[in-house]
Amino acid sequence: MIQQNHKRGLWATRMGFILAASGSAVGLGNVWKFPYITGQNGGGAFVLVYLICIALVGLPIMLAEFTIGRKTSLNPVGAFYELRPGTPWVGIGFMGVLAGFLILSFYGVVGGWTLAYMVNALTHSLDQFTNPAEAGKFFGSFIGNTGEVIFYHAAFMGLTIAIVIKGVHGGIEKACEILMPTLVLMLIILMIRALTLDGAMEGLKFYLYPDFSKLSGEAILLAMGQAFFSLSLGMGAMITYGSYLPPQENLTSATLYVVLFDTLIALLMGLVIFPAVFAMGLEPTGGPGLVFSVLPAVFTGMPLGWAASILFFILLAIAALTSAISLLEVVVAYFIDQKGWERKKAVLTMGLVIFAIGIPSGLSFGLLAGFKPLGMNFFDHIDNIATNYLLPIGGMMTAVFVGWIWGTEEAHKEIERHETTFRWAAYWEFVVRYIAPVAVAIVFITKIIPSS
Ligand code: TRP
Repeated sequence: MIQQNHKRGLWATRMGFILAASGSAVGLGNVWKFPYITGQNGGGAFVLVYLICIALVGLPIMLAEFTIGRKTSLNPVGAFYELRPGTPWVGIGFMGVLAGFLILSFYGVVGGWTLAYMVNALTHSLDQFTNPAEAGKFFGSFIGNTGEVIFYHAAFMGLTIAIVIKGVHGGIEKACEILMPTLVLMLIILMIRALTLDGAMEGLKFYLYPDFSKLSGEAILLAMGQAFFSLSLGMGAMITYGSYLPPQENLTSATLYVVLFDTLIALLMGLVIFPAVFAMGLEPTGGPGLVFSVLPAVFTGMPLGWAASILFFILLAIAALTSAISLLEVVVAYFIDQKGWERKKAVLTMGLVIFAIGIPSGLSFGLLAGFKPLGMNFFDHIDNIATNYLLPIGGMMTAVFVGWIWGTEEAHKEIERHETTFRWAAYWEFVVRYIAPVAVAIVFITKIIPSS
């Protein structure tokens, strides 16, 4: 295998790395997906299961991925190959690259929606609704419009390609440094607005009070898939980002920052959406359109709603972009490291292929809406395969690999290579070896048994 490290690039600063990794983690998964699957799966109890998955599975696997990346300075395929050459473990790397392909294919579609909404906000189309149903109808007709959906999907992929072409430091790191703090500020403003709506309390209760009777086995699988998706785990994105780290970085604190930040944004977003959903008399089970139809209705009724709608959708688009970048980067890093391609060729070719694969997902709510093999449209199938299967399996195998094959001792040495003692080493070693792999396995088994 060809490994040309000089072509790869490095993060310039520690802060830049943390922001880029947070930029990967914080995205549509937090702002768009977390609220709608929480809404569809009963609220509070789902949130609790999600948080448990973050602590027991997400956190240890993120550190495992960063460690593999920094140790090898390679893409996921190259990394597993280097640590255990000639063994099937390299398969985890290939699965990761495949997951990157699939996720970006539908992620780019939703990224396109955010761009379209940004434009709609600017042109005053989003602060004119007299009731939330109108906002929902607007969303429904937009996602069914073939021309517009494909246009914005292409625009979003074009932006992603343009940033990734510029490389790690010049493109990715710079883009993330401005956005992340602004996003938090904006969410806090929206949260205050949502919480002061009449009827907000019902929403808070739904969101924060765990009613376990509403929790299904399926929901637990979804919570775990969501933990992987939201933290960008299970497909080597964090291996790839870790591979651009200079050796002196502190991996453990970086992991804690990224996990906390990502979780905070998701939880905040719930505090925006659910009070608003209940205050407007909508159903929390609205699905993928939830954020797109509820928020415009909130904007319409609030002072400076126009400005808020613009700012929100700009930020959402950028949050989506900083995540899409990391998905493309995994695929690109593989072609650069393993196949010796130039960055430019890798980015352009793969960006276009992924866009093309995404087209049927983009049409799933319009032209192809009737095409539902096994009861799900194309978009939902790709999301389901990648998020609920490839990511958890990839994450479980990564935990097994670090815990048992490469070994926590070696990993521990890498974590402490240039830094002070790893204080929560005992917790980490235990969860990485036992809890994370077993938790993922149990969730799969319980998922398979009741449905068979
Ligand atoms: N974490 C991102 C989000 O929440 C999506 C994402 C980016 C991702 N890179 C990933 C998901 C790698 C899984 C794997 O929107």
